[in-house]
Amino acid sequence: EKGGFETFMEKEIHDQPQAVQDTLLGRTDASGALVLDELRIDPEELTQVTKIIVLACGTSAYAGTVAKYAIEHWCRIPVEVELSHEFRYRDPIIDEGTLVVSISQSGETMDTLMAVRYAKEQGARTLSICNTNGSTIPRESDAVLYTHAGPEIAVASTKAFLAQITAAYLLGLYLAQLNKKLFSGQIKDILADLGEIPGKIREILDGAEDVKELARSMADATSVLFLGRNLGFPVAMEGALKLKELAYIHAEGFAAGELKHGPIALIDDGQPVFVVMPSPMDRHSLHAKVVSNIQEVRARGARTFVVAERGDQAVRRHAEVVFEVPETQPVLMPLLTTVPLQIFALELASAKGYDVDQPRNLAKSVTVE
Ligand code: M6R
Repeated sequence: EKGGFETFMEKEIHDQPQAVQDTLLGRTDASGALVLDELRIDPEELTQVTKIIVLACGTSAYAGTVAKYAIEHWCRIPVEVELSHEFRYRDPIIDEGTLVVSISQSGETMDTLMAVRYAKEQGARTLSICNTNGSTIPRESDAVLYTHAGPEIAVASTKAFLAQITAAYLLGLYLAQLNKKLFSGQIKDILADLGEIPGKIREILDGAEDVKELARSMADATSVLFLGRNLGFPVAMEGALKLKELAYIHAEGFAAGELKHGPIALIDDGQPVFVVMPSPMDRHSLHAKVVSNIQEVRARGARTFVVAERGDQAVRRHAEVVFEVPETQPVLMPLLTTVPLQIFALELASAKGYDVDQPRNLAKSVTVE
C-alpha cells in the first residue's frame, strides 16, 4: 500500500505529479475553455462576486495565500485569506457579493466547518475546495471543487497541498474567464504551463539527492528559518511547518521583507536559513530584493540554502547551496518550490529516527474546535 516506499509521506510526495495531473483532468471542453460543472453554482452568480474570503487552517491556509495572489492577479477581485478559527469569532463583514472559499483536505476540520456554517448564515455563497468526496464541508457548501490527490494518509500534508493550489488556479482562471479578465488565449497558455508541472515535479523528485544530503547533515539543527517573498512567502511558511511537524525543530517562516523589521536579530553564526527565490522573471524586480536579503543574513553568519529557478545565475554567487527547480511562469512556482522543502523535512525527520507518518501530538483531521 506504500507503493514500495518506506513511509506514506514519502509515497505521497512521489504521488504529487499524479495529484496535480488528476486535479487538472477533465476541466476543459473541446475548445479548450474551462468548464467547472461540478461547482454547482450558477456561473451568472459567480460574475456577481465582489469579494472572496478564503478560509482554512494549517497547510491548507498556505494554499489559500497562493490562491489570493493568483486570483487577485488574474481576476482583479479582492481576496482575503483568514484562518478559520480567527474568522468565526471576530464579527467579519460578509454580504451577498461575498464568496467564501474554504480549503480543506479532509473536509472535516471543525474550525473550518464552523466558519463555513457561520458564513452561510450571514448570507455568503460558499465554495469548498476539498480532497475527500462526500465529507462534511463540501456537503454543507453551495459549491465544491474537488482536488483529486487521492487519499492522504500521512499526517503532514503534501500532495493535498499541491492539489489545492492547482484547484485554486483553476478557480482563478475560471473566474477570469467568466468575468473576461483574461483572453481565452492567455487562459490556454496558463493551462498548458500547468499541464507541464507534473513532469517538472518528477524532475525535482529525481534530482533530490543534494537536498537529502543536506538534511542528513543537519540532524543536530535546533532552529531553521525560512524566508520568501510574494508567492515564495506561503511556500516558506509551509517549509517551516513541515519541519516543525516532522522533525520537532524550531522553524519559522517569514516574509523576506520583514527581515529588517525584527527577525534579522535572530541571525548569528551558523544559523540555517532557507530562502525561496522569486522568479527572475517577476514583474516587480523582487528577485534583486531577495538576493540582497541573502547577502544581509550571510553577512551576519547565516548558512543560506536557496530554492531557485534553474538558470537563475544571479543567486548562485550569493548562496551557500542552491536547489534548482525547473522554469515555469512566476505565478505557478509554488507547485515546484515547495517540493524540495518537503523532501528536506522528511529526510531530516527520518535521519532523527522519527515516525514521519504519525508525528507526536498531531491528528490527521482536527475534528474539535
Ligand atoms: O484537512 P484540512 O486541510 O482542513 O487540515 C488543515 C490542517 O489541519 C492541516 O493542513 C495541518 O496543518 C497539516 N498537519 C499540515 O501538514
